[in-house]
Amino acid sequence: MQDNYQREINYLRISVIDRCNLRCVYCMPPEGVKFVDHKEILRFEEIEIVVRAAASIGVKKVRLTGGEPLVRKGLENLIRRISNIPGIDDIALTTNGLLLPPHVQVLQDAGLKRVNISFDTLDSERYRELTRFGELSGAWEGIVAALDAGFHPVKLNTVVIRGFNDDEVVDIARLTLKKPLHIRFIEFMPIGSSNAWATGRFVPAEEIMSLIKNKLGPLIPAKIPAGSGPAKYYRLKGAQGTVGFITSMSEHFCSSCNRLRLTSTGSLRPCLYDSCEVDLKAPLRNGAGIKEIAALIKKAVSLKADQHHMLDGWQDNRVMSQIGG
Ligand code: GTP
Ligand code: 5AD
Ligand code: SF4
Repeated sequence: MQDNYQREINYLRISVIDRCNLRCVYCMPPEGVKFVDHKEILRFEEIEIVVRAAASIGVKKVRLTGGEPLVRKGLENLIRRISNIPGIDDIALTTNGLLLPPHVQVLQDAGLKRVNISFDTLDSERYRELTRFGELSGAWEGIVAALDAGFHPVKLNTVVIRGFNDDEVVDIARLTLKKPLHIRFIEFMPIGSSNAWATGRFVPAEEIMSLIKNKLGPLIPAKIPAGSGPAKYYRLKGAQGTVGFITSMSEHFCSSCNRLRLTSTGSLRPCLYDSCEVDLKAPLRNGAGIKEIAALIKKAVSLKADQHHMLDGWQDNRVMSQIGG
């Protein structure tokens, strides 16, 4: 399915819950956010209808996000439902990794193909400061569990934050030398973080690349290790994994945008940085079937902006955990 700017839309990101077992400072304000009532969250059978409708008009890839998607009980049942939908050939998960070890096998058996795990620091005190109450060892155990289960590729998301972890990018990139990990350095986006914390924290990808090249040698352009997200990938000489960059701010990738987002409360959001949404929950609860939902998905696609307007001072009252990253 194409939008008004001839972009092929084939990727649906689904936030399955707004709750999270962490409170990362870049994602939620210190006072936390008010979580929505359970009955406002789409049920698995409702999400299945949306994915069937999306698949009928060209969506091929689904990513489950949150909040923290593994906080949603029985997630494997949703994965099983989605993996039975003709046309969906990739089901992936973005997680903080803490709850992966006990669930990894059942998720894989249900049809999960790939995992991306947040990993912002190698320092356990910093991890606690960033996540407000997480344990770094737990995140690392999640990564090991994903590797041991044979997921390939395992991608790590590192949001680079000035004055917090910008002195660690070389050590984090070094992880790719010995392990088949695909680290993506993400430019910090001031989304929903209108608080003072975000001010002055941005580090452009070019600066991160220079730091890595100066210490570890050239970054050789590499093939995308599966997936169709916005990262550009490179490899350090002799490395098992790759180093990627997600340049949402310094060089946006909107002209090749391929995605739609479904919020946990059942709204389709055509762009991460645009408050415009199309509600699917009310129609679903009024008995809409695949055809009607497919028509609403097409409407959302027709509302996709050509590019984001983050740098023009755009503001949203939703935080990242409510949109799904
Ligand atoms: P794959 O390439 O399929 O592995 O996935 P992905 O990179 O799309 O997924 P992931 O959830 O790991 O996304 C990584 C980060 O990229 C997100 O947390 C965002 O910071 C950023 N990102 C993802 N989609 C968009 C988007 O549409 N616009 C912008 N500006 N940033 C995005
Ligand atoms: N800027 C950039 N990336 C962010 N993420 C969450 N908040 C932000 C932000 N303000 C990323 C996390 C997680 C993914 C879902 O979103 O790294 O991996
Ligand atoms: Fe797509 Fe909006 Fe992200 Fe740009 S900012 S890549 S248009 S979702």
